[in-house]
Amino acid sequence: MEEKELIDAATAVRKNAYAPFSEFKVGSALETDDGEIIVGSNVESASYGLTVCAERVAVWNAISQGKRKIVKIAVVADTKALTPPCGVCRQIIWEFGGDIPVVLANLHGDIETVQMRDLLPRAFDTKFLK
Ligand code: THU
Repeated sequence: MEEKELIDAATAVRKNAYAPFSEFKVGSALETDDGEIIVGSNVESASYGLTVCAERVAVWNAISQGKRKIVKIAVVADTKALTPPCGVCRQIIWEFGGDIPVVLANLHGDIETVQMRDLLPRAFDTKFLK
């Protein structure tokens, strides 16, 4: 799938972000192994620590729709330096995607694609549990 498709979907869902505390809105869109796009935005809580990032909302949406494998994910925020997934999200993306491309974009057309192995070297995952 073209990066632009995922970026457009992430940019659109970013408008639904619930971020009254940080005012930092993020949108994410992922591609599943069967070619679907599934989106998520960040959702904050008055109990700040309960906030969930856009990337994890997208992954939880995918899993709850019966998907089990993601092949690409995009993150869109309104920052000059492109916003990467936080550490917690890197772990979750790894568990359902492994070494997939992560497309970072902002609202000004800047785009960079990085690999998960570079964002989360020597990752812990289910293979250690066997
Ligand atoms: N956030 C995301 O949704 N994704 C990221 O990649 C970075 C951070 C959210 C969490 C919180 O709602 C706000 O951005 C500020 O940290």
